[in-house]
Formats: sequence, structure tokens, C-alpha cells
Amino acid sequence: MSNDPLQDIIEDAKKLVQAAAHPRKGTLSLSPETAARLENLSAVAKEVRAEAAMEPIAAAPVSVDPIERLKILAETVRQCQQCDLCEGRSQTVFAQGSPTADLVFVGEAPGEEEDRQGLPFVGPSGQLLTDIITKGMKMKREDVYICNVIKCRPPNNRDPLPEEKDACEPYLLQQLDYVQPKVICALGGHAAKTLLKTDASTGSLRGKWHFYHGIPLRVTYHPAYLLRSPSEKAKTWADIQEVMKVLSGEISPTP
Ligand code: URA
Ligand code: URA
Repeated sequence: MSNDPLQDIIEDAKKLVQAAAHPRKGTLSLSPETAARLENLSAVAKEVRAEAAMEPIAAAPVSVDPIERLKILAETVRQCQQCDLCEGRSQTVFAQGSPTADLVFVGEAPGEEEDRQGLPFVGPSGQLLTDIITKGMKMKREDVYICNVIKCRPPNNRDPLPEEKDACEPYLLQQLDYVQPKVICALGGHAAKTLLKTDASTGSLRGKWHFYHGIPLRVTYHPAYLLRSPSEKAKTWADIQEVMKVLSGEISPTP
């Protein structure tokens, strides 16, 4: 027994379920996802209550591993039915790359190939994004974190509806909170408008530093737009070079 009744209840419940799920003697069978969640329950509860008590994050004792929290979030997204896009998806597209990345790219929504593979930016725009990362930035794709505002493919790649963006946005915000990158690159209008809460055009937002919860954010054109308007690639390259300056420590933009 600890001096924390809620923690005791959670521990007791966890033991009961774990005993019931014993591989030979048990009567329950748990999916690996549920088992992982159960394993994390006490830690998550602790953190949730620390947050509820408005303790500053930095002063919280041991916070739950953000990588674990991302896994739990991915599982929540996998089962999400908050909007109608869940009906048409083959699968959700949560993210790809390093959960400890210094750089996060945020796109719009999965397309056909992304929906098929369950991974972001693996179709034609993805090829261009990969070239930007590997040939332009001389980085590895697996060393950045890539995600979208919307986690399910809109039918025929139509623009996401406002209610779809509202339903999905909390997932993106949590992803950014867990990854805590040094810099965010918003690809195109949907990402920029969602993160910056503005209606301004991509063209007017690019070319300068913005901040998302204190994290420097650069807006640039969406790779799909660049495929249609290749003459704009130079501007994206200029934006990307600014992003690289933050990564190398050459500049540290402040709000
Ligand atoms: N376009 C996007 O915005 N995201 C993807 O994942 C693929 C294409
Ligand atoms: N408009 C957008 O929304 N995105 C782009 O990348 C370019 C124009």
C-alpha cells in the first residue's frame, strides 16, 4: 500500500486483470495494445493528475516516456471514429520517423498510397519530400518525424472539411507535445492554418518565422503544389535552408 489511494486502486485492478489474462491459468485474453496500455496505466494516471494539479511539467517527478505515449496515441488513432473519414479509410496514417526528432514535417492528409501503406508521404509528393530531406538537407528520412493534420484519407483526396480538421487536430497537437522538436515545418495551407490559427495564404505565411507553443515554425509550399508548380521549388528550398540553420544551431529564432 502506498499513501495514494487512487494509485493503489489502479495497481490492484491491474493485478486482477493481469492474473485473469495469465497465458495458461487465465480466462481473459488481452491484445498486445491493451496489455501495453495496462502496463502504462499507473504512470499515465500519475502524469494526468500532475497536470490536473497544474504542476509545471518540468517539476513533475518522472514523466511517462513520450515514446510510449506516442504508441498509445497511435493506437487511439487507429480506433478513432470521431469523424466520417473512418468509414472510407483502409487504415489510419499516424506518423513515420523518429519520435525524438529535432524536425517535424506536418502535411495535410493521407492520399491513396498513404492509405494503402499506413504511412505518411509515400506517394508522389512523398518522393519529393524524401528528396528534400535526403538530397537537399542531407538527412535521413527516418531521422525526422513526418505526420499530417488529418490521419485518414479523405475520399478522392478532397480537401479535409473543417469538422474533420477539428476532430483530428488534438492528435496532432499531442504528437508535437510528445516529440518536442526544435523546429516544425508546415507543408502547405492546411498544416499552416491548423497550427497557426490563421486564414492567411501559404504564400503570405512563408518566408518568415512563426511559433507554435514557442517552437519555431516555418511554413512552406506543399510538395503536391510544387509538383504542379515546379518554379516555386526555389522558394521552398529557401525555407528549408532556414530550417537547417535552426537545426545546426546557427540561428535560434525566439517569439
Ligand atoms: N500529402 C499529404 O499532405 N500527406 C501525405 O501523407 C501524403 C500526401
Ligand atoms: N496553397 C496551399 O494551400 N498550399 C500550397 O502549398 C500552395 C498553395
